[in-house]
Amino acid sequence: VAHVLETSRLRLRELAARDLDFVASMLGDPEVMRHYPSVYTREQAEQWIERQRARYARDGHGLWLAEERESGAPLGQIGLLLQSVDGVDEPEVGYLLARRFWGRGFATEAAAAVRDHAFGALGKPRVISLIRPANLPSQAVAQRLGMRAERRTQWAGFEHLVYALARRPLPVTGP
Ligand SMILES: CC(C)(COP(=O)(O)OP(=O)(O)OC[C@H]1O[C@@H](n2cnc3c(N)ncnc32)[C@H](O)[C@@H]1OP(=O)(O)O)[C@@H](O)C(=O)NCCC(=O)NCCS
Repeated sequence: VAHVLETSRLRLRELAARDLDFVASMLGDPEVMRHYPSVYTREQAEQWIERQRARYARDGHGLWLAEERESGAPLGQIGLLLQSVDGVDEPEVGYLLARRFWGRGFATEAAAAVRDHAFGALGKPRVISLIRPANLPSQAVAQRLGMRAERRTQWAGFEHLVYALARRPLPVTGP
């Protein structure tokens, strides 16, 4: 399998149908899904993987699977998703970890690599994260990535904070 990105502890790769057991257990966990409308059934988890595969084909990116490099164990999903926010398409850095992997810096490590890839290879001028106001662990990740809360908006039927970070301008070189 081709890896999209690597960090010191993690590898990101495209999700595949064979990842269903892991994805279904993650999306079926009420703690992981606390800030989502509901937990997902196995069938909904299958559709989630299909939606990411449609994103890879359409946009070249989506939520990827994060694996621990050492063990190959799947930890979560981190990636870049094009989202329509107030009528504007914006690249969102998205992240979810299975509960047993919280508190070890994995989300920030993978999301920082996704942010740098978005600004670098993908040439995006800015990235956002859409986060429910009550989701403080997710806001802490966004802040560690250098994002700041820019505004509130209604998105997917719920109030969200729009965290945003612009790519640093290229240094101006003299003549
Ligand atoms: C959002 C989410 C990914 C954050 O997970 P997290 O483990 O808190 O975030 P990180 O992986 O960046 O880890 C940071 C924590 O690990 C600690 N840590 C331990 N070792 C570390 C290391 N080597 N490097 C960095 N941090 C480390 C940090 O101190 C911090 O702990 P704290 O929260 O007690 O301050 C997780 O809560 C989640 O999956 N939630 C459910 C899904 C969700 O809501 N996603 C966001 C939707 S907008």
